[in-house]
Amino acid sequence: MNIDIITLLPGLLESPFNHSILKRAKEKGLLNIEIHDLRNFGLGNNLQLDDYQFGGGAGMVLMPEPLFNCISKLQKEKNFDEIIYLTPDGERLKQKMVNTFSLKKNILLICGHYKGIDERIREMFVTREISIGDYVLSGGELAAAVLVDAIGRLIPGVLNDETSALTDSFQDDLLAPPVYTRPAEFMGLKVPDVLLSGHFKNIEEWRMEQAYQRTKSRRPDLLLEEDEL
Ligand code: 6GU
Repeated sequence: MNIDIITLLPGLLESPFNHSILKRAKEKGLLNIEIHDLRNFGLGNNLQLDDYQFGGGAGMVLMPEPLFNCISKLQKEKNFDEIIYLTPDGERLKQKMVNTFSLKKNILLICGHYKGIDERIREMFVTREISIGDYVLSGGELAAAVLVDAIGRLIPGVLNDETSALTDSFQDDLLAPPVYTRPAEFMGLKVPDVLLSGHFKNIEEWRMEQAYQRTKSRRPDLLLEEDEL
């Protein structure tokens, strides 16, 4: 899978993909990430990228030309399955969307800044607009890193049995149950007996019940949610 990312701050995306699972995905040739510095498409002598918004108001807007030129150049090289704009006014990211993205071949991510990008670029190119939650970040880069991480670990062949994504929180719309490791007693706190019992069926039942109770108290919305893509 190829993920291209257009950004104003390439330095911010240097590290996130060079550790742990994503690093291994890249080394295995399962994931290829290319960062494109929008500044290279800036206009005029000072490589201008943003301008005041029509109609007035605080905050700069990324001009259409640099983005148009950058996206058009990339489209000559690749046929993108999705062109995703990371923006706080996008659709909120869900695991099911991530699952779908992980099966694509070429994805282009556009990181916004300031007041965002000119609406015409969204109309012309963007196929999905995604937010990673109900709070505002100073730019789309960290959101892009979150999205790439979530996608990357699902690409077939990236995780092994031990790290399997099948038991993740959210894959079955339930939060994960508590987990414990040695020692069986720590500072007077004991691991639940059932986990030490070796009784597989009871352990599974306990985990399901814990997952359900945790979901009910922390995220009751998940128990009601309809399937969505
Ligand atoms: Cl995708 N971008 C920004 N700037 N803020 C966000 C976001 C994205 N998702 C949540 N907050």
